[in-house]
Amino acid sequence: MKVVAVASYKGGVGKTTLTANIGTAIARLGKRVLMVDLDPQANLTFSFYRPQVWRTELADQRRTVKAWFETWRPDTTAPSLQGYITTPPEAAEAISAGGGQLDLIASHLALGDVEMDLTARLGGAQAHRSTRHYFDVYQRLSHGLESLDADAYDLVVIDCPPHFGVVTRAAIAACDHVLIPARPDLLSTLGIEHMLGKLSRFVWEFNRVAELQSGLRPAVKKLDPRVLGVVLIMVQYYRGRPTSFLRRHIDQIDELGVPVFTAMLRASNRAFAGSADAQLPAVLSMETPYEVARELVDLVEEFLRRLGASGLGSEGLRGWRGDI
Ligand SMILES: Nc1ncnc2c1ncn2[C@@H]1O[C@H](COP(=O)(O)OP(=O)(O)O)[C@@H](O)[C@H]1O
Ligand SMILES: [Mg+2]
Repeated sequence: MKVVAVASYKGGVGKTTLTANIGTAIARLGKRVLMVDLDPQANLTFSFYRPQVWRTELADQRRTVKAWFETWRPDTTAPSLQGYITTPPEAAEAISAGGGQLDLIASHLALGDVEMDLTARLGGAQAHRSTRHYFDVYQRLSHGLESLDADAYDLVVIDCPPHFGVVTRAAIAACDHVLIPARPDLLSTLGIEHMLGKLSRFVWEFNRVAELQSGLRPAVKKLDPRVLGVVLIMVQYYRGRPTSFLRRHIDQIDELGVPVFTAMLRASNRAFAGSADAQLPAVLSMETPYEVARELVDLVEEFLRRLGASGLGSEGLRGWRGDI
């Protein structure tokens, strides 16, 4: 089971779009995929569920990641995530031909309460290193995922909130790879740099606390998440080619020492603005323009390659549309 956190320091850069499309495409290839929505905006959840259905079938039934976090009791093992997993019906039907599985742990609009609660348990934003709840908080999600059957999923994709708070850090502690989406502009490049700094500081801190507390508790496995790369989305094209600014941004990101995906997504309102209504991501929609569909397929192939999972048979991706 590979766990990938899709994270960035900002909102509106494509985290949810990537999570939904990559997760769905890989499930359509016949794999078992679990998506986890950790953003209180719940955009990933609402890409697969109509708000009314979310309310009655998930929120009211306490089947969201918020409800799971709220079962936290100090010094107990994390409760299983199993009962919080749902299968979005429209997407399930759309991917069924390939024999895969696409599941979701839904978010809640009030997930921000959890962020505050967990931060408080750590003793505030700054003072958390010495507190006894450090691992209870940060390892909670990883333990929750470990409580699932070891072979239940081939891939878990986590859609993180648009900042580097406790919930994002818990996702980092639960993942083995981080995927960073960005728009090709200067502010995003600065955001990536900031994010990488936060990421390495958190990993350092976690491993340091693990060392310091090693005599007191069962050994904590050290973190070593790998940055899979930066995916550029909303790339502007001029006369069919990326604008010359793009090369500059790619060079700037290269200088930060993170790989930039060769595959990127052009800006396309037709592909991405309307798809939320149909409860299906663009990668499955026949409304998606040919160029965008092909970019999505290239992106998923490169994702699998970088993940070291090329055996997933990504050539099946091209078979969905005869024209790709
Ligand atoms: N390539 C694209 N072209 C046009 N709009 C896009 C593209 N990718 C994403 N969007 C739209 O941009 C908005 C922000 O993307 P989203 O994935 O929700 O970002 P985040 O999860 O980082 O906040 C959404 O409305 C989404 O549909
Ligand atoms: Mg989002």
